[in-house]
Amino acid sequence: MTEPFDAVDVIRAKRDREVLGNEQIDWVIDAYTRGVVADEQMSALAMAIFLNGMTRSEIARWTNAMINSGERMDFSALGKPTADKHSTGGVGDKITLPLAPLVAVFGVAVPQLSGRGLGHTGGTLDKLESIPGWRAQLSNEEIMDQLRDVGAVICAAGSGLAPADKKLYALRDTTSTVECVPLIASSIMSKKIAEGTDSLVLDVKVGSGAFMKNLENARELARTMVDLGADAGVRTVALLTDMSTPLGLTAGNALEVRESVEVLAGGGPADVVELTLALAREMLESAGRPDADPEAALRDGRAMDAWNAMIRAQGGDPDAPLPVARHTETVTARASGVLTRLDAYDVGIAAWRLGAGRSRKEDPVQAVAGVEIHAKPGDTVSAGQPLLTLHTDTPERFTRALEALAGAFDIGGTLEEPRSIVLDRLANDVVPRGLRTTETGGAR
Ligand code: URA
Repeated sequence: MTEPFDAVDVIRAKRDREVLGNEQIDWVIDAYTRGVVADEQMSALAMAIFLNGMTRSEIARWTNAMINSGERMDFSALGKPTADKHSTGGVGDKITLPLAPLVAVFGVAVPQLSGRGLGHTGGTLDKLESIPGWRAQLSNEEIMDQLRDVGAVICAAGSGLAPADKKLYALRDTTSTVECVPLIASSIMSKKIAEGTDSLVLDVKVGSGAFMKNLENARELARTMVDLGADAGVRTVALLTDMSTPLGLTAGNALEVRESVEVLAGGGPADVVELTLALAREMLESAGRPDADPEAALRDGRAMDAWNAMIRAQGGDPDAPLPVARHTETVTARASGVLTRLDAYDVGIAAWRLGAGRSRKEDPVQAVAGVEIHAKPGDTVSAGQPLLTLHTDTPERFTRALEALAGAFDIGGTLEEPRSIVLDRLANDVVPRGLRTTETGGAR
């Protein structure tokens, strides 16, 4: 087949700050998926985009080309609204686990096609795989059946969904081209639009443990994704949320499942509950259930029932004990006073070095590894009091994990104003597909 473009010309154009043409973009994504554009050429193009950016219309075309690289799912046959959530990734971010069954309680289908962790942020599938018997891989038919019967599914995104993004994301991870608004926005939105949800709630993390370290960059990322959602007719809301300190009191796979179950039982750390409820309310509102009371569903056991059904449907035993690490090490406070900082990134790196995360996508993870947090910013601590407990099955990992934590906290000094976990909100005004007035005059 004769190729209509040459990758070198596309790279040169972006290197020289030109705006790429629609056909150039369609071709480069398609040719990369086919293996005609080589990894080193795509790496150079990704770096040129990282350095020189893309216009709004280039990003939209790039996103579409990635959607068109694979299949599109269609949940319209379910006869109920669908709502999905995506987080840009943070430390201790286990929110998907309680959130999906909680929203499903109200008759909204929640298809959470998720990924595994890479780097210092954990992956939802890695967390759930610490539950004995639980299975991440489902066929499209199994996903539909589970959405119909249980209402919520958290499983691996099939290889047919935005394959261009799968290839490109792995490449970006090894070429230092991840933290780039056009590339992150198109990566996330291509997968979510291909997934075929009616509405989408984005949790855009801001702070040391997130890709976006400051509010201005996070807002730009959120605005870009909300606009891409509008282009595709997907109701999209973005909450900008704090990731300067870990979410909740655990970072690590089985540890985070345990904490999620506490939330589903009506307890759990206040910040995890607050963010779960904030995201649930947005999803329910977008799905046409503005009067639903998710707080009551956490209190009265309905969310827990939905969780148990969701885990069982995928072969897991929700009553089985979670694995526990063979070795622990405690980090204590060196002085007495108010804990004024506990750094999300440092805790994430420590959990990763203990074995909770992977360096290469084929690496195994330890279900038991991670960090348990005993004090959060604002708490008063005494010298010698435990601040963190490190968990692992391989104690030789403690030294490197402790090194990561050497500058992770401050005791004394000034505490930043305690800020709400939700820092800002952006939304488009699309009416979700499931709520549009039909030709016969009814709305679902
Ligand atoms: N998550 C994604 O799916 N893609 C990115 O580029 C970054 C975070």
